[in-house]
Amino acid sequence: MATLRETFDRLIDEGKLQHDPAQEAVLPEFDRIREALLTPVKKGLFRKPPEPPKGLYLWGGVGRGKSMLMDLFVEHMQDVPTRRVHFHAFMQEIHTAMHEARKRGVDDAIAPVAADVVDKVRLLAFDEMQITDITDAMIVGRLFEALFAGGVTIVTTSNRLPDALYKDGLNRDLFLPFIELIKARMVVHELTSPTDYRQDRLAGSPSYFTPINSDTRAEMNAIWSDLTGGKAEPLTLQVKGREVVIPRFHNAMARARFHDLCGQPLGAADYLALADAVRLLMLDDIPQMGRSNFNEAKRFVTLIDALYEARVRLICSAAAKPEMLYLEGEGTFEFERTASRLQEMQAEGWGDLPAS
Ligand SMILES: Nc1ncnc2c1ncn2[C@@H]1O[C@H](COP(=O)(O)OP(=O)(O)O)[C@@H](O)[C@H]1O
Ligand SMILES: [Mg+2]
Repeated sequence: MATLRETFDRLIDEGKLQHDPAQEAVLPEFDRIREALLTPVKKGLFRKPPEPPKGLYLWGGVGRGKSMLMDLFVEHMQDVPTRRVHFHAFMQEIHTAMHEARKRGVDDAIAPVAADVVDKVRLLAFDEMQITDITDAMIVGRLFEALFAGGVTIVTTSNRLPDALYKDGLNRDLFLPFIELIKARMVVHELTSPTDYRQDRLAGSPSYFTPINSDTRAEMNAIWSDLTGGKAEPLTLQVKGREVVIPRFHNAMARARFHDLCGQPLGAADYLALADAVRLLMLDDIPQMGRSNFNEAKRFVTLIDALYEARVRLICSAAAKPEMLYLEGEGTFEFERTASRLQEMQAEGWGDLPAS
């Protein structure tokens, strides 16, 4: 099977990828890890298993192609037990598993939970590592320690350099050993490409489709399939012990219908968790609202506030222009701000954040 380098060259030849020296500079790192993991392990009673290769921490601004490169890498792993998962989703699973272990009376829940991961995979590929939550910050050090000790290789993408992880977080000094561990067990590489391909792809394309009909539906579908290549799966967010399922998710982009998010008893915490997990949301079928659905209107205000604060890129289809969505009922005054935010979020370049 081809190396990443070979596949990358082919994709450029076929016009599917643009030539990008910064991206190409990372390929040898991926191929190094791939080659080490594909080398058959010689078994022998007294033979120590070989040291796993150093992983890769690939960081840089949004839309530079980090996730694309990681996906390409994962597709080249042949039969190496590999798991590609959004970091956020992985940590939610870990917390759930630790909770279960504690219920069974296990004191040190990290050990069995990590052992379970070690049993299943040799390579973990995390997309979008970010640590904003103290419950994550306080366990990742020991968790990764156990994963590395078990011979797992980790590659990850991130918008921040390791030293900026969990910046200004509570009890950050307890978190610092984790940063050292990353530097010791992973090659830290900055993807310096000057091109934001995602912004390029969306440039000039409208982000607010109205009215709702078969044409606008088709346009929404075309954007979604262009952005995700048809790959998507549900994302489960754990919010205050509840589960909130976002129907479609891929590479930090989500798609849902208005009814999924605003027609259900969800609130600020749920929308903040969503805004935290995605960079782009496609929201279908925003209806015109009135007195009878002021609850939906109120939730929509909260949702847009959360997305706006987190500078999540929004692409939506709606029954009417923002200022015509909610004209009578409780909270129409507050809705004016939402309408204005919806306008602002349509502007070219909105949500295009530099690496922080
Ligand atoms: N060299 C390239 N040529 C063409 N499209 C690219 C290239 N690199 C990335 N893209 C596309 O740009 C978009 C953003 O890339 P992505 O990997 O999601 O960025 P990041 O993870 O760094 O935010 C994706 O649709 C991706 O397929
Ligand atoms: Mg990405």
